[in-house]
Amino acid sequence: MLYAICFMNNVSIKKIQEGVFLDKKILVRADFNIALEDGKIKEKFKLEVCKKTVDHLSAQSGSKIALISHLGRPAAVKTLAGNAEGKKNPEFSLEQIKDELEIILERKIVFVNDCVGSEVSKALDALNVGEIILLENVRFYEGEEKNDSEFAKKLAENFDVFVNDAFSVCHRDQASVTGITAYVEGYAGLRLQEEIKNLSRVIHEPESPATAIIGGAKIETKLPLIKRFEKKYAHILVGGKIANEAVDQKIVFSSKVVLPLDFAKDRLDIGPKTINRFKEIIAQSKVIVWNGPMGKFEEQPYDIGTRAILEAIVESDAFTLIGGGESVQVLEENNLFDKISFVSTGGGAMLEYLSGNLMPGVEALRIKKQ
Ligand code: 3PG
Repeated sequence: MLYAICFMNNVSIKKIQEGVFLDKKILVRADFNIALEDGKIKEKFKLEVCKKTVDHLSAQSGSKIALISHLGRPAAVKTLAGNAEGKKNPEFSLEQIKDELEIILERKIVFVNDCVGSEVSKALDALNVGEIILLENVRFYEGEEKNDSEFAKKLAENFDVFVNDAFSVCHRDQASVTGITAYVEGYAGLRLQEEIKNLSRVIHEPESPATAIIGGAKIETKLPLIKRFEKKYAHILVGGKIANEAVDQKIVFSSKVVLPLDFAKDRLDIGPKTINRFKEIIAQSKVIVWNGPMGKFEEQPYDIGTRAILEAIVESDAFTLIGGGESVQVLEENNLFDKISFVSTGGGAMLEYLSGNLMPGVEALRIKKQ
């Protein structure tokens, strides 16, 4: 069979534009792992980004689409025997997003209270033109996170094709991300391709001067990223909890790394001198990449640093790329998506990709050499 080849960051992956999906049953891995409060959706971005892929696949005559995702980290049921109904915690049910997804995707959604077995095949058989299926949280099964091959096989057995459109889970080696591709042909969706293209651009060919802004927590997880940025970036601005950790641990960086000059009270935010220095650097940059808040932004007044940096990024003429759950939340709250060149859905996945680590979910879509 001839596969479409997509060279992105030297990764040759199969992409959906050149596949033929007429009359195919297609399982699309999306990432609907979003913030919910009392069942109310707090962020829509991750729901919106799968629309292009769904529209593309739906346009192929006779195709039937089911969306699969995880939501949070529920305790998984122990076995694959039968339907897991009754053991599922409703707090983690994807049924909560059905109505909103229906509005966003502009099509009727049939929710199936399972992700393997006869309930899924029956729903596929009964599906009408213009409808799509939303499957229940795949993490209700312990086979998912363990990447159990039996479970992956069961996920695959109702489908002819698998499409991964969830860049933000590609750092996970799990059944619905990687394992399934052993049993059904896998392709990259449009959003996944877009993520790789933009992240690849900022890490491999950034225009000069480029600035990375890194915040959040756990300095040990961010050090490889800082080191990678040091190769091609003029400045790496460090804020948030990791700045405290770097100072406390007396970590020595190159002169490209700019640590805070001052902090707000209790070191819960960057201080005014730091804000000014960071703003000067941002204003001169041609590329800006940001991941992680500058302080405990969910609590006033420790949101000042994060908001000031966001304002400076929005005002800049640079190519701007933002990712990470909290940073995206700030963007969504302030309705600023249109002011950023590219917003990545990836939190952990974005860090892994930019750090240069292989992404199991992307690797699984590679074209195998014959
Ligand atoms: C995310 O929100 O970053 C992804 O959905 C991955 O979620 P996880 O960290 O629970 O695997």
